[in-house]
Amino acid sequence: MNEIENFLIERFLFLILLPYFLFLRMITLVVAAAENNSIGKNNKLLWHLPNDLRFFKNTTWAGVVIMGRKTFESVNKPLPGRLNIVVTANKEWKAAGTLVAHDLQQAIDLAEKENFKEVSVIGGGEIYKQAMPLADIIYMTRVHTTIEGDTFFPTIDTAEWKLNEKNDFYKDEKHAYDYSFEKWEKIK
Ligand SMILES: NC(=O)c1ccc[n+]([C@@H]2O[C@H](COP(=O)([O-])OP(=O)(O)OC[C@H]3O[C@@H](n4cnc5c(N)ncnc54)[C@H](OP(=O)(O)O)[C@@H]3O)[C@@H](O)[C@H]2O)c1
Repeated sequence: MNEIENFLIERFLFLILLPYFLFLRMITLVVAAAENNSIGKNNKLLWHLPNDLRFFKNTTWAGVVIMGRKTFESVNKPLPGRLNIVVTANKEWKAAGTLVAHDLQQAIDLAEKENFKEVSVIGGGEIYKQAMPLADIIYMTRVHTTIEGDTFFPTIDTAEWKLNEKNDFYKDEKHAYDYSFEKWEKIK
């Protein structure tokens, strides 16, 4: 290969990869919701589904998790193996092992400053509502029951979102409900 060919290949690769390094930003929502979209009550989850916890860990591991202050306080410790960013309006608020942002956009910018191109928004209801218009992917664990809650996931608008994957699982001694892992992608 002569120098000109080398130069052209390098130039080509540079131009192809440039948008990735400059602009690519993937915002994923990760949620478990009942069929009536309830996700929590009294600042707690509504179920214990070990396979969903495993799925959540695998999906978010080594990345950034952005959450509202109430969700952080319901867990009450940073999630290990992930960069934890907590959103609060309270300028005094802090917790060891977390970065603090004062709105959702600031949280996303903080993740970018830390060189992450992808973020997982992990709740709760207030934060999902604000993140939904910005999101590219929703990993929804649909729990096949209707449960009373005080916090809800927004309705997924099927004119805007397409269900591209769905895997069904059945209740067993460790899982009180049937559930499905769903991957929704925003229609561009
Ligand atoms: N099933 C699931 O997948 C799932 C996932 C996560 C959470 N949950 C459940 O969801 C419930 C918590 O959700 P939630 O809606 O009550 O609370 P949340 O969204 O976790 O947190 C709300 C708080 O975030 C801060 N915040 C939100 N938007 C903000 C903005 N634009 N600027 C600055 N601060 C902002 C405020 O904190 P300050 O008040 O400090 O200003 C607000 O009070 C719990 O029951 C939890 O268990 C369920």
